[in-house]
Amino acid sequence: MIAIGRLGLGLCLDVSIKRASLRPVPRQGTLAVAMAALSASYCLTLLSFIFFFSSGILHCTEARRFSLCSQVSKELFDKIFLHKDDNACPAKNFYTYDSFLNASKFFPKFGAAGSSATRKREVAAFLAQISHETTGGWATAPDGPYAWGLCFKEEVSPQSNYCDSTNKEWPCYPGKSYKGRGPIQLSWNFNYGPAGKALGFDGLRNPEIVANNSLIAFKTALWFWMTEQKPKPSCHDVMVGRYVPTKADIAANRTAGYGLVTNIINGGLECGIPNDGRVSDRIGYFKRYAELFNVDTGPNLDCENQKSY
Ligand SMILES: *[C@@H]1O[C@H](CO)[C@@H](O)[C@H](O)[C@H]1NC(C)=O
Ligand SMILES: *[C@@H]1O[C@H](CO)[C@@H](O)[C@H](O)[C@H]1NC(C)=O
Ligand SMILES: *[C@@H]1O[C@H](CO)[C@@H](O)[C@H](O)[C@H]1NC(C)=O
Repeated sequence: MIAIGRLGLGLCLDVSIKRASLRPVPRQGTLAVAMAALSASYCLTLLSFIFFFSSGILHCTEARRFSLCSQVSKELFDKIFLHKDDNACPAKNFYTYDSFLNASKFFPKFGAAGSSATRKREVAAFLAQISHETTGGWATAPDGPYAWGLCFKEEVSPQSNYCDSTNKEWPCYPGKSYKGRGPIQLSWNFNYGPAGKALGFDGLRNPEIVANNSLIAFKTALWFWMTEQKPKPSCHDVMVGRYVPTKADIAANRTAGYGLVTNIINGGLECGIPNDGRVSDRIGYFKRYAELFNVDTGPNLDCENQKSY
C-alpha cells in the first residue's frame, strides 16, 4: 500500500516539474502560473488522499479489523483519550491504540452490527464506559472532566478482595485480589474466572495479568461488553437493538439505552438513585464521545428510574 503512495508521489512530482520547466516565456505568465499552481494543488490533494487512504488500509489490514479501525482512527482515539499518557496518570503508556485494535480482533461483532450510526454509537458507548471506569478527571480538569479516560490500570484503594466465597464454580485462590483491573475494571472471582477461561489465561490464579498486559486488559473489557451473563443481557445486544426485555425487565423500567448498559456494569451500586454523580460522569463521557463520533446518543441515558439486577 505504501508503494502505491510513493508511486503516486513520484508521478505527480514528475508531471509538475515537467510542466514547470515547459512553462513558456514570462509574458504569457499569469495563466500558466495559475494553471501550474492549480495542478500542483490538485496533485497535493490527490496525494494526501492516497496517502491517508493507504495508511489507513495498511493499519486496518494489519489489525484485520477494517470496520472498527475505519470508525476509530488513531487520530480520533487520541482526541478521545487526551490525557491517558500524562505523567499524572498511573496507566501512562499502558493503553495503546494498537492493543485496543488487536483485542477487538477477537470480538469481530463488536462495532459491526447494524447501521453506521448504530456501530458508531456502540463504540462510543463502550469507550465512554471504560473511560468512567478508569477516569482521572475532575470538575475543573484541563480539557474538562471527560478528557481523562484510561488514566488508571487498577483500583487504588479496594475495600476488599472482591472474593465471593459462596461461588463454588470460580473459587478464589488464596491471597489473590479480584479488585478492579483494566479498562472495564474487571472485578470479582466470578468475572475473572470466566473471562480468563474465555480468553486463555488463569483469571483466578493470575488476576494481575489484567493490569500487566494491555492486550489482555482490552480483551477483558470487550469480553465483558460482548458476553451475556443472565439475567443480564450483554451491553453489545443493548446498544445494537437486540435486547428483548422480559416482563420483569419492563416492570423494572429496564428499557434499552446507555442507562441500561450502566445498569449491567454497576447497577447494584448506581441505579435507582436520583442524580447519582457516577451515573452523570458516565453520561458526560458518552455525550462528549458521541459528538466526536458525530452520532446521536439515543434515548434513556440514565438509570435513575431503573431497578438493578
Ligand atoms: C498488534 O498486532 C500487530 C500485528 O499483528 C503486532 O505487530 C503488534 O505487536 C500487536 N500489538 C499489541 C500491543 O498487541
Ligand atoms: C503486575 O500487576 C501488579 C498489580 O496488579 C503490580 O503490582 C505488578 O508490579 C505488575 N507487574 C509487572 C511486571 O508489571
Ligand atoms: C419506573 O419509572 C417511573 C418513572 O418513570 C417510576 O415512577 C417507577 O417507580 C419506576 N419503577 C421502578 C420499579 O423503579
